[in-house]
Amino acid sequence: MSHLLTRLALRRLVAGGNCGRYLPSSLSVTPGAAGATMAVVKPWDDVAVARGQGLGALVGQWRRMVSSVPEHAAPPEKEKKESGEAAVMGEKNDEMMVSSYWGISKKKIVREDGSDWPWNCFMPWETYHSNLTIDLKKHHKPKNFIDKVAFRTVKILRIPTDIFFQRRYGCRAMMLETVAAVPGMVGGMLLHLRSLRKFEQSGGWIKALLEEAENERMHLMTMVELVKPKWYERLLVLAVQGVFFNVFFVLYVLSPKLAHRIVGYLEEEAIHSYTEFLTDINSGAIENVPAPVIAIDYWRLPKDATLKDVVTVIRADEAHHRDVNHFASDIHFQGKELREAPAPLGYR
Ligand SMILES: [Fe+2]
Ligand SMILES: [Fe+2]
Repeated sequence: MSHLLTRLALRRLVAGGNCGRYLPSSLSVTPGAAGATMAVVKPWDDVAVARGQGLGALVGQWRRMVSSVPEHAAPPEKEKKESGEAAVMGEKNDEMMVSSYWGISKKKIVREDGSDWPWNCFMPWETYHSNLTIDLKKHHKPKNFIDKVAFRTVKILRIPTDIFFQRRYGCRAMMLETVAAVPGMVGGMLLHLRSLRKFEQSGGWIKALLEEAENERMHLMTMVELVKPKWYERLLVLAVQGVFFNVFFVLYVLSPKLAHRIVGYLEEEAIHSYTEFLTDINSGAIENVPAPVIAIDYWRLPKDATLKDVVTVIRADEAHHRDVNHFASDIHFQGKELREAPAPLGYR
C-alpha cells in the first residue's frame, strides 16, 4: 500500500506538482506544445538550448542533477594524466595541493601580460578599474526623523574612532574595513533568506549587497598588507564584530531603511577618512610606499602604483557604496521593496 502511495506521489511530482506556480508565466509547461521542452529546460540551462543541444543536453543535465556521482568521477586519459601530475606536485608540497578536487585539475590562469595568476581568492574576471569620476562630495541631507537618527548615530560613532586612531589612517582604515564588510553580508543574507521564504526574486539586490561585502573585504585584505595589526587590535576587532554583526542584524530585520541609511552615512565618513589619508600622503606625513601586488591585480593598477593610487580607488569604491545604500534606503522610504527597483549591478 505504501509503495502504491509512493508511486502515485512520484507520478504527481513528475507531472508537474506545485512548482509550476512559482515559475513566470512564460516558463509554464504546456503539455504537447512545441515549446514545452524549451520551457522546462530554460531555468536550468539557457546556453544548452541556445546551442541547439535540446533534448540531449536536457537529459544529460537531468542525469547529473539526480546523480550523486561527480560529473568528472571518471576523467578522460588526458585529465587523468594532469591530475596525476597534480598529485605528484601535491606530494612535493602538501600545503599547495590538498586534493585533486574530484579529478578536476586547476586550469592555468594567466595575467594579461602572460605571467601566472597568483590568486585563488579572486580571478581576473572579477577585477576592475575603479570609477574615479564618481562624485565624492555628494551628501544625503537628513530630511526626516529616521535620516536624522542615522546621521547622528554615525556622527556619535565617529567620536571614539577619532579619539582612538587620531591621524593613524592606515590603522584606522584597516580596523574600519573589518566593520564595513559586515552590513552587505547581513543585508544580502537576509534578502537571500527572504527570497527563499517568499518564492520571489530579489531584483539583483542579493548580489549587489554581497558584492559590496566582498569589495569591502578586499579593502581589508589590501590594508592588512600595509598595516600589521597588533594583538590588542585583533582583540578589538573580535569584540566589535561580535557586537556589530548582531546589532546590525536586528536593525536590518526591524528597519532596513534605517540600516541602509546608516551605512550610507558611514560610507560618507569613509570617503572623508580616505581623503584625509590622501592629504597626509601628499604632505609626506605618511610614506607613499609601493602598492601591494594584491591591490595592483584587483584594481588593475599600473605595476608602479603606490599607496596613493590604492587609497584613491578605495575611496571611489566607498562613494559607490554610499550611493547604493542611500538608494536602497530611498526605495524603502517610498514604501517599496528593494526588488521593485533594479539593483545597481556592474555600476562601478
Ligand atoms: Fe571599504
Ligand atoms: Fe564602503
